[in-house]
Amino acid sequence: MQKFIGLVGTNSDNSTNRQLLMFIQSHFSDKVDIELVEIKGIPVFNKPENKELPQQVKEIAAKIDEAAGVIISTPEYDHAVPASLINALNWLSYGIFPFVDKPVMITGASYGVLGSSRAQMHLRQILDSPELKARIMPSSEFLLSHSLEAFDESGQLKDKEQIEKLESLFEDFLTFVELTNHLNQAHEINKREAENFSWEEI
Ligand SMILES: Cc1cc2nc3c(=O)[nH]c(=O)nc-3n(C[C@H](O)[C@H](O)[C@H](O)COP(=O)(O)O)c2cc1C
Repeated sequence: MQKFIGLVGTNSDNSTNRQLLMFIQSHFSDKVDIELVEIKGIPVFNKPENKELPQQVKEIAAKIDEAAGVIISTPEYDHAVPASLINALNWLSYGIFPFVDKPVMITGASYGVLGSSRAQMHLRQILDSPELKARIMPSSEFLLSHSLEAFDESGQLKDKEQIEKLESLFEDFLTFVELTNHLNQAHEINKREAENFSWEEI
């Protein structure tokens, strides 16, 4: 079975984005194996000169490296992704390049009506940077609005239409992963470019 990572885009203990990933994990468990990965506990990025990464970051990077794809679920804070998620991505692009050409599906949940739409746009922009350079599934968004009321006691999404949308998007994501595996002619060059890229030499 293909292995995927569900990256929880927040360090908050009570997170409807974590709930959404847990739902995705169990709902698609007959198709794929999704491991949820937490960013809570990662120290604040401080550009260490020896480029020594925290152990937690190294472990996350190794898991992403091995995964067929990553699903990131992000809250929206002040029209952007949470600082804890940017922080994790900063570390995950500092001398290591686990996201280069990695298929990524973005989802998001928020308490309000807009369901993290602006944070998702922001995340796309971040993941497109030279040292992350992920393959983000195009023209798709899964927004879970009113996320506090969206799940029943057993963690199931209540709205059938939302489930149907998620099912079709996830099916598309699996196709996207397959397609992306064929778009590998430039992978070595992309990896080398990310490795050789330096913001200090621009
Ligand atoms: C500091 C802060 C800023 C927020 N800004 C937004 C926002 O710009 N747009 C939005 O839809 N929700 C906003 N929210 C509400 C979040 O969507 C909600 O608190 C929550 O983080 C949803 O994700 P979670 O359940 O995974 O924590 C904000 C919440 C906080 C704490």
